Amino acid sequence: MPLLNILQFPDPRLKNIAAPVEHFDAELATLIDNMLETMYETRGIGLASIQVNVPKRVIVIDASDNENEPRHFVNPEIIAKRGVIEWEEGCLSFPGVYAKIKRAKEIDVKYVDKHGKPQELLNATGLLGVCIQHEIDHLDGITFYDHLSSLKKELLRKKLDKIRRRSL
Ligand code: NI
Repeated sequence: MPLLNILQFPDPRLKNIAAPVEHFDAELATLIDNMLETMYETRGIGLASIQVNVPKRVIVIDASDNENEPRHFVNPEIIAKRGVIEWEEGCLSFPGVYAKIKRAKEIDVKYVDKHGKPQELLNATGLLGVCIQHEIDHLDGITFYDHLSSLKKELLRKKLDKIRRRSL
């Protein structure tokens, strides 16, 4: 299966807003498979369709230690948030840089699977909970960078520039 090209910050297409999925067809299943493969290949733990320039509401995640719990969420929606947690996040659209972001400590999510069947994930915490919030943000054109203060944004951009110059 083909690996997908991941948009890199500050690509303006990362600000696109994804539309709900309406057709639960083979094309959707292929998109999910390709997103998972791309995520594993790039050593990521989550990927949103917006990052591969497909503006449909699809995210994939594997927050397990052994890369053996692939999850997909279509049209995901956070229906409850509890508490606050600060977590150091990274993003495949910002390789090599990390920043502490405040998120809900625990969330309940409703979504549908690739067959269009309604699903719920209750009490998601830790890495999984944070990752779901990060990826759903992408579907609304928001990256972890957008959560930072202007000073921290500047620092992160400088670090990113340095990393990119080094890898030329
Ligand atoms: Ni991301």
